[in-house]
Amino acid sequence: MTKLALAVFASGRGSNFSAILQSIENGALHADVRILISNNPEAGALVTASDYGIPVQVINKKDFASRTLFVDAMLSVLERHQVNFIALAGYMKKIPPEVIQKYENRILNIHPALLPSFGGKGMYGHFVHEAILETGCKISGVTVHLVDEHYDRGPIVAQRCVPVKENDNPDTLAARVLKEEHRLFAEALQFFAEERVEIKGRRVVIH
Ligand code: GRF
Repeated sequence: MTKLALAVFASGRGSNFSAILQSIENGALHADVRILISNNPEAGALVTASDYGIPVQVINKKDFASRTLFVDAMLSVLERHQVNFIALAGYMKKIPPEVIQKYENRILNIHPALLPSFGGKGMYGHFVHEAILETGCKISGVTVHLVDEHYDRGPIVAQRCVPVKENDNPDTLAARVLKEEHRLFAEALQFFAEERVEIKGRRVVIH
């Protein structure tokens, strides 16, 4: 087993980030969060990180004179904190290809639906749950997947179903899905800590 030296990227309230921290605390996830990175200085996740004494860094492309400087800043923060794995926990920006290459098959994202349905550009937050209800699906779920250069398209590591109920609205469905997100993300990260993951093209096999 290796201890994951994690960078968590989060743009919002950070409940998945909190769930990761709880899993580390209760021993279910063998990892250290080395740094919390956000594009959003208002992100709730930044407050949580500070409460835990975890270093934080706001990195926003628009604060840099060029794309190269932005990417260099991100890579150097990851290097400085000796990060060997990245968890995207509600991160609303694309990860630069240079970072994806450096952390090939070492970046996980969580998505609040069963990919490859209901993913891609614009499919985030309440839009996902609205689309599921409009389509009349009886089942939704959670997907944890490896990150490549396309939104929500990398190989799937773990999925779990969540029922859609007759009287659901986007908020009630989101809340039920979120509970499962909080379990599945740490479980999927732990597969990597336990070195149980084999990637065969688009298929991820957990041994
Ligand atoms: C989650 O629904 C996650 O699946 C999606 O963004 C949301 C983030 O929620 N990628 P939180 O900030 O972790 O509470």
